[in-house]
Amino acid sequence: MGAEEITLQEETITLFKRYCGIDVSEIKRRGQSIRAGGLQIQSYRCIDSYRFLFPRILSNPFYKRLREKIPNSRIFDIGCAFGTDLRQMVVDGANPELLYGFDIHGRFIRMGFDLFRDHTGAINPLDLKLNFLAGNLNEPYLNLIHIDDMTQFKTNTLDSAMDLVHAGSVLHLLSETEGEELIKKINHILKSGGIFIGRTSGASEKIYPENRLTTIHSPKSLKELLTSNGFAQIKIVADEREVIKNPNDAITYFTLHFLAYKAI
Ligand SMILES: C[S@@+](CC[C@H](N)C(=O)[O-])C[C@H]1O[C@@H](n2cnc3c(N)ncnc32)[C@H](O)[C@@H]1O
Repeated sequence: MGAEEITLQEETITLFKRYCGIDVSEIKRRGQSIRAGGLQIQSYRCIDSYRFLFPRILSNPFYKRLREKIPNSRIFDIGCAFGTDLRQMVVDGANPELLYGFDIHGRFIRMGFDLFRDHTGAINPLDLKLNFLAGNLNEPYLNLIHIDDMTQFKTNTLDSAMDLVHAGSVLHLLSETEGEELIKKINHILKSGGIFIGRTSGASEKIYPENRLTTIHSPKSLKELLTSNGFAQIKIVADEREVIKNPNDAITYFTLHFLAYKAI
């Protein structure tokens, strides 16, 4: 796809203008280069389709309700990829020093520093305040990613530390066991009464599209998973998705947005 064919939504243009001061042609130029590099790491649809340029957290109805809490909250974004949603939170008034992006791929995080350079092409000074972590949450140390190097970060620093955890399009990439482990971990890093929001692909019944390597939850199975791992006051919104399917296929596919509180 040539740069001229990339369609940018209003929210994307506003984010990049406010965070970096760049215009549409520069967003498209950077988008093309990040897409090419990102696809070499992992071929996610959100990279291939340029969706990573859009601050997808804005499509979460629960995020809108939490906007006033954002400035004073310590927030952890699991599966942050290039960090688009984190930069949106900064634009929405979050304190960048209280924001943590986490991904298994540190290289996505590093590419985000290029995507969000300021309009002069220099490293964005706001980026120097953000905290980016890569690695495995079950290991004692994570990598704290800086622009030019990385240092070690004690994983247990995160215990009961977060007011809000966000996970956008991560759960459906995991097996049922991995998903449950991640939910337990999220519960562990939240403060008592802390909030977990996110988005995941869903269906009218729980299915395992890649032979149990990935999990598509139904609203019911997602609620059960959250309840049995220490969450309460769970709300799930299911928006039907148009997907190519066999006309005899009885399953309906959804995008699930959810909100849950760590039970006290
Ligand atoms: C489909 S992308 C979604 C990116 C972004 N959160 C969004 O909503 O568009 C999924 C991201 O989750 C990361 N990821 C996959 N498994 C993960 C895990 N177990 N823990 C943390 N990040 C993970 C991937 O590397 C990738 O960056």
